[in-house]
Amino acid sequence: MCYAIPGKVIDIDRDIVTIEYFGEKRKAKNEFFKLTDGDYVYAQGGFVVQKIPTKEALPILEAWRELFFKLKEIDQKLTQNPKNLYEKANNLRQKYHGNSCCIHGIMEFSNYCCNDCLYCGLRHSNAQLKRYRMDTEEIVKACEYAIKELNFKALVLQSGEDYRYDEKRLVDVVRRIMESFPVLLILSIGERDIEIYKKLYKAGARGILIRFETSNQRLYEEYRRGKKLLNRINLIKELRKIGYLVFTGFLIGLPQQTEEDILKDIELAYSLEPEMFSFGPFIPHPNTPLKDAPVPSVDLVLTTIAKTRLMYPESRILVTTALETLDKENGARLGLLSGANSLMINVTPEKYRRFYEIYPDRSGIDITIKDRIKIILNLLQFLGRAPTDLGYR
Ligand code: 5AD
Ligand code: SF4
Repeated sequence: MCYAIPGKVIDIDRDIVTIEYFGEKRKAKNEFFKLTDGDYVYAQGGFVVQKIPTKEALPILEAWRELFFKLKEIDQKLTQNPKNLYEKANNLRQKYHGNSCCIHGIMEFSNYCCNDCLYCGLRHSNAQLKRYRMDTEEIVKACEYAIKELNFKALVLQSGEDYRYDEKRLVDVVRRIMESFPVLLILSIGERDIEIYKKLYKAGARGILIRFETSNQRLYEEYRRGKKLLNRINLIKELRKIGYLVFTGFLIGLPQQTEEDILKDIELAYSLEPEMFSFGPFIPHPNTPLKDAPVPSVDLVLTTIAKTRLMYPESRILVTTALETLDKENGARLGLLSGANSLMINVTPEKYRRFYEIYPDRSGIDITIKDRIKIILNLLQFLGRAPTDLGYR
């Protein structure tokens, strides 16, 4: 199983195309290709990322056909007669999105950060962390590997807030990737000048992953000293205006955070019109001021996923690595069974991966990328999920 199924273009309305996957229809935005009815494409995040020749698409679809319908059946069986909150959320996920599940790769290219968030292991004051930066060549090579060898169609490029990657360097990286490879490129580089974000959009980046961390202004300003919640929210709104898909969310289980705060977090995230919700548990890091804070329960995270699904049934919800870390055996499976429908796989080169230590003992750092992919694909088959695109919002 691979992480995307090609679809057939069956309708074109200016830049919005309708794509069919074995009778299921999804919309996608097409900015980059000349398309006519009957063409075959790959779409991710509601964007057409690649056009492929018919003679290449047909055998792939043929190989998928039987499995595709089998997966659908498994998913339908697993979502019948929902009883508890999690099952109801999973049932709604199935109703609104079918068994589509997207898998994005994430590549962490620098662990330097000029900020000092009290909860984060990458904080500037953590002098014990070995820091690394990948140069442009290394980043492009690692993306090439993830896209060409590992077949990822959507990639997140993430770093701390590291100004060594200035406008010129970032634009160069994005342009080189977009000129060479078919991919939906999502950036997670912190609070940068809006003009830089405009240039990165022009260079071809189409998504930004940026959480607002907490909707509680007092907590935000306590844990991110010197920073303003309002600035963060305004930036996210501006990014949407530029046209970016926004992946946003918050931390679950920060000290002093209440249940009511979490409900407000869900509402705030929704109001920002996210392409995808990205929220996960706060896991204390021993070299941070919050080292002695309690670890949130897996149930709290699953309940947050389920509530989000019930409140906003059409949403796309990511299972974050932090949930997979909290419960290494079952985190991904439980998240997907509580209403989530997306996953990320870490594709950072192995020599750097363990240094991106936002929190300790991250899931997935001690196995090879290929083994991790195998585990995730097995899980998706077991749960009856197919990598058809979730479609244009
Ligand atoms: N536990 C879990 N997530 C964390 N992040 C930062 N520190 C932690 C932690 N201790 C998350 C923040 C940030 C993202 C890059 O990592 O939400 O936005
Ligand atoms: Fe830097 Fe982000 Fe960590 Fe804050 S949460 S210290 S901005 S990497």
